Amino acid sequence: MEKTFTMIKPDGVKRGLVGEIIKRFETKGFTITDLKMMSISPQLAKEHYKEHTEKPFFNDLVEFITSGPVVAMILEGEDCVSQVRTIVGSTDPQKATPGSIRADYATTVRFNVIHASDSLESAIRETSLFFEEQETLQTI
Ligand code: TYD
Ligand code: MG
Repeated sequence: MEKTFTMIKPDGVKRGLVGEIIKRFETKGFTITDLKMMSISPQLAKEHYKEHTEKPFFNDLVEFITSGPVVAMILEGEDCVSQVRTIVGSTDPQKATPGSIRADYATTVRFNVIHASDSLESAIRETSLFFEEQETLQTI
């Protein structure tokens, strides 16, 4: 069984979408193995998004992701990494498939409600950034 890392971003939390988003993953059939609300330090934000360090949107991204609490969770299920990315939808909500979370709940790339790991390698890296090993019920 595969696991992936997801995080409801500060806009999703502020807009009261936590329940709606979790419901989609649960009704689809994925299991939540770890879940917590937390604030992200600038240091963690920069590490999490380090592939984007040189991008023009990087500073705005770090500012946004540290602007309020997020809900971090690990989901488990069959082909979880790619299936969860499909449920989340394309980075740009305007291009996301209708019925995906970003298409249904977001209008701009910058405030696109949720993060999900883009590969198994990213899932393992991001899980270890956000969760202590002893915190997780099972290792990824
Ligand atoms: P990226 O890893 O490309 O997207 P995804 O979240 O789908 O894996 O980018 C990370 C985040 O950076 C993205 O969710 C929103 C933000 N971002 C911008 O603000 N502007 C942009 O042009 C891009 C590509 C991303
Ligand atoms: Mg990404």
